[in-house]
Amino acid sequence: MEKKEKIILTGDRPTGRLHIGHYVGSLKRRVELQNSGEFDKIFIMIADAQALTDNADNPEKVRQNIIEVALDYLSCGLDPAKSTMFIQSQIAELTELSFYYMNLVTVARLQRNPTVKAEIQMRDFEASIPVGFFTYPISQAADITAFKATIVPVGEDQMPMIEQTREIVRKFNATYDEVLVEPDILLPSNKSCLRLPGTDGKAKMSKSLNNCIYLSDSEAEIKTKIMGMYTDPNHLKVEDPGQVDGNPVFIYLDAFSRPEHFAKYLPDYENLDELKTHYSRGGLGDVKVKKFLNAVMQEELAPIRTRRKEFEKDIPEIYNILKKGSDEARRVASNTLDEVKSAMKINYFEDVELIKEQAQKYTSTN
Ligand code: TRP
Repeated sequence: MEKKEKIILTGDRPTGRLHIGHYVGSLKRRVELQNSGEFDKIFIMIADAQALTDNADNPEKVRQNIIEVALDYLSCGLDPAKSTMFIQSQIAELTELSFYYMNLVTVARLQRNPTVKAEIQMRDFEASIPVGFFTYPISQAADITAFKATIVPVGEDQMPMIEQTREIVRKFNATYDEVLVEPDILLPSNKSCLRLPGTDGKAKMSKSLNNCIYLSDSEAEIKTKIMGMYTDPNHLKVEDPGQVDGNPVFIYLDAFSRPEHFAKYLPDYENLDELKTHYSRGGLGDVKVKKFLNAVMQEELAPIRTRRKEFEKDIPEIYNILKKGSDEARRVASNTLDEVKSAMKINYFEDVELIKEQAQKYTSTN
């Protein structure tokens, strides 16, 4: 039996610049996976069509953010020589696959998808859910299966999408023929990276809450945001014992700091555990912790920002990279679509048997 290829597909909706939550939750990992050399193919998709499912009235927002997301990808180290970066809407085959998969999914099953449920509530869609939005898990299954992805590295909020994709694959293969591949989800390895809270302590970083630190933020912007972060509201005086759990400053440190950072910027402490112990006991001020966090984050984000500035100098070249990636993605998706259609026996003009059979039926009656 031929060895199964290891194929990655993942992506992001282009509704804003990417922030440090995307970075620790997925981008950093993607670059590591890319550079591990363990994968046969890597596809990174800018999901503009999916973004339009809840931004139908604002295509300009999506259009503007495609380049932002591409710049964020490249500046984090995604390399077009190793990863195929492409734009979802440019691959018409994905829409066609979605249309056939729709017959394999019930409305009741879509209604149970917890991520879609949460998003419907968040967007006040209850009374008027766009059909396209409601069915985006099916389109996401098309994204994944078109490339026969075996691994989908995403955040835990995407778990229901991968589960739904696996169900569609099983149903398709059982109903028609073994064409599609069941993907596995790859969650962030570090617990603190599952989801970074906003700088205001709210559970999610979101543009509308204005609580994000962006990869493209300047040094000064990052510093202002960190020094203004929400911490333990009961930690009023330095002597007061402080709460570490759920404190966003410590959650960020969990995600970003390493023991080397202590030696370099805060040598009174060996590691994060010691710093946390002191904070919990009392006697450690927020400003000191925030200054340390700022030093750590500046060190991590400076090279990304520098690379971004370089890429920003040649924007037409970025579109060129996306065009080449989209051409490559289309070739792959088109092969899968051909296989899907022949499994469903809707490839009439290539089906010599069908034509012969129909011809015979009519010669015998005439
Ligand atoms: N739903 C993903 C998000 O909101 C984006 C996405 C679209 C995606 N299609 C995908 C992710 C396929 C992984 C695989 O971020």
